[in-house]
Amino acid sequence: MTAEAVPTRKRVLTGFRPTGPLHVGHLAGNVGNAIRLQDEGYECFYFVADWHMLTTHYDRVDELPGSVEGLVLDLLASGIDPERSVVYRQSDLPEVAELALLLGMIVPLGWLERVPTFKERLRDMAERDIANYGLLGYPVLQTVDIAIVKGELVPVGEDQVSHLEISREIVRRFNRLYGDVLVEPQPLLSDTPLVPGSDGRKMSKSLDNTIDLADEPEAIRAKVRSFVTDPQKVRRGDAGRPEICPIFALHRRFSPDIADWTDENCRTGALGCVDCKTNLADRLIEQLGAFRERRAELAQTRGLVEKVLGEGAEKVRPVARATLAAARAAMRFG
Ligand code: TRP
Repeated sequence: MTAEAVPTRKRVLTGFRPTGPLHVGHLAGNVGNAIRLQDEGYECFYFVADWHMLTTHYDRVDELPGSVEGLVLDLLASGIDPERSVVYRQSDLPEVAELALLLGMIVPLGWLERVPTFKERLRDMAERDIANYGLLGYPVLQTVDIAIVKGELVPVGEDQVSHLEISREIVRRFNRLYGDVLVEPQPLLSDTPLVPGSDGRKMSKSLDNTIDLADEPEAIRAKVRSFVTDPQKVRRGDAGRPEICPIFALHRRFSPDIADWTDENCRTGALGCVDCKTNLADRLIEQLGAFRERRAELAQTRGLVEKVLGEGAEKVRPVARATLAAARAAMRFG
């Protein structure tokens, strides 16, 4: 679809926490979706959720500037285009903080305590001290991110559905109490299957099982070699089950033209895992080559990230100011 084919440009918004280098799971998931929506001509607001990062990393703020810089370079190199999408940083908008304070007043504690990701985070990071007000309030801040730009569509993965549901409830409650000011966002569910990492679990930096977009060819080969495969297929000749093999899941996504062939020859045993992995590594190296070149080039452009974020902030600021002013007025802080 071209830009002209979208009659009224719906406004899309999504945020990215600066958690570390982007990996192929991101490209197959939320980052890939963001690029597609931009290319389909939606009006896109994409931002770095650096305040959200504090919910789990408040004691690691030294890492934050580098992570933000790295994330923006990764996003630009993978195809997010600041000429077509508004790319900005959450913390450049004090309006977000003020609206978060106001919205926080009307959010029942029970709604927040029930969010599955809240309990999961506490459990998964049990060794860290993160049972804070900020973490509990994560969905409130996220609601503000969306509401402040009047975001209509939010591309979400399965794990974010509960957050968006809460956002819709908070917006409805605000509008009921103070008048029809905020826009209720809709989820844009994508059917992108989760990409598994080297251990077969969801690819994720915290599990240390990723293939990063910026990895050198040799690192990609080594990582692909380290992936688990069907444990029943020990050597070439053994019949394999592609449907349970992480390598095959990556083939489906990154080498669709040979995926059926791979499926067939894995099942008959004609294709061994070593060759199958080599095929995948070749494709990944080919596809990530352009990314690596572009990223290296962008990283050399002095001041680029600050320029992009500065311009993005200027574009989003009037929108954020208008929403905040309307919310303040509705709450009699005219
Ligand atoms: N919670 C998202 C994540 O884990 C990041 C995020 C922050 C976000 N604010 C948002 C996503 C608003 C969509 C809309 O990556």
